[in-house]
Amino acid sequence: MRAAVLEEFGEPLVVQEVELAEPQAGEVLVRLVACGVCHTDLYTASGADPSGYAPTVLGHEGAGVVERVGPDVASLAPGDHVVTLFSPQCGECIHCLDPRTNLCLEIREQQNKGFLPDGTTRISRDSDGIRHFMGCSTFAEYTVMPEIALAKIDPEAPFEHACLFACGLSTGLGAAINTAAVRAGSTCVVFGAGMVGLGAVAGCRLQDAERIVCVDLSPDRLELACGQGATDTIEGGEGAVEAILEMTGGFGADYTFEATGNVAVMRQAVESARMGWGLCTVAGVAGKGETLDVVPRLLITGRRVAGSSFGGVKGRDQVPLLIDRCLAGEIDVEPFISHRISLDEVNRGFELMEAQDGIRSVIEFS
Ligand SMILES: NC(=O)c1ccc[n+]([C@@H]2O[C@H](COP(=O)([O-])OP(=O)(O)OC[C@H]3O[C@@H](n4cnc5c(N)ncnc54)[C@H](O)[C@@H]3O)[C@@H](O)[C@H]2O)c1
Ligand SMILES: [Zn+2]
Ligand SMILES: [Zn+2]
Repeated sequence: MRAAVLEEFGEPLVVQEVELAEPQAGEVLVRLVACGVCHTDLYTASGADPSGYAPTVLGHEGAGVVERVGPDVASLAPGDHVVTLFSPQCGECIHCLDPRTNLCLEIREQQNKGFLPDGTTRISRDSDGIRHFMGCSTFAEYTVMPEIALAKIDPEAPFEHACLFACGLSTGLGAAINTAAVRAGSTCVVFGAGMVGLGAVAGCRLQDAERIVCVDLSPDRLELACGQGATDTIEGGEGAVEAILEMTGGFGADYTFEATGNVAVMRQAVESARMGWGLCTVAGVAGKGETLDVVPRLLITGRRVAGSSFGGVKGRDQVPLLIDRCLAGEIDVEPFISHRISLDEVNRGFELMEAQDGIRSVIEFS
């Protein structure tokens, strides 16, 4: 198959022929149809991620069709449409059984090292193993993944829309719907209007928030936020907290969300939450070693801080439901797709992202 391989950190990906072995027990062979290009792919490609490894096939925002299943696979069959999950759901571990978290423990260790659950890889070149990325490796025509890391979706969903739910969009939606569980009639503030922040804006709207303020540095992105349900917008920067306090009678918002990855903005998100019950949900991923600075008095007076990984979404159960809401017209995802590119153009996808040109480039496999 053809795949985009990260050979050397800091170098462009090399699209080339590699071998893919048959799915083993509990594994599934998927033919990719669409795949988003995400910051996490670029972060690893750049070499900035200290836990990164190479060579590996990048990509983790995939949607496609089940081609073949290995032994002991009961929940998926050839022809099923699926979304890839970097955050799996085994359904049996202590975390999967608890409604309070989506952090499945089943395959974490091997996945973090770039292997399938049995500690080996299915991708190779001249019989040398190439590692899997985030358990997905979807910058490729095909991938082999654990059954527990694939969500079966409605075949009516366009693949290019479905793939957005594999990462950033579900993260933002879930931060509002699951982690914060925004109450109807609330005032919400979302810092950052990338894929995650725009998803959070949409999530606040779906929870019937009354007021949704979006904060970003880019006027174009703030306009997209209005399309997702933002009622007010603010230009980000030093005066953002004051502006929010002013808009809320001096109190701050019932719910704030951080989707920038900048620890100074995380602090602003805490400071913009109201006393008594304000909840700040952090979704952004900070740089290694960075810390969040919070004045403890803000917490004693009733503000709370929560973190959210993949929006608290239990992927196999909830990604299909989010996609159903998309099909029902509740979430307008078309504005998120700014560029449609081929696998050979994957490095251009990175360039567009670095230039903040659009929200998502989606690779279409023909
Ligand atoms: N928690 C998770 O599971 C999860 C999943 C995916 C992504 N993320 C993280 O979420 C964050 C956002 O991801 P994204 O894909 O939306 O990124 P993005 O870069 O597309 O969006 C970030 C936005 O923040 C804005 N911004 C920058 N500085 C700002 C400031 N001072 N005030 C207001 N806005 C500011 C930028 O203009 C940009 O629009 C990243 O840190 C990413 O790593 C987390
Ligand atoms: Zn992603
Ligand atoms: Zn589990």
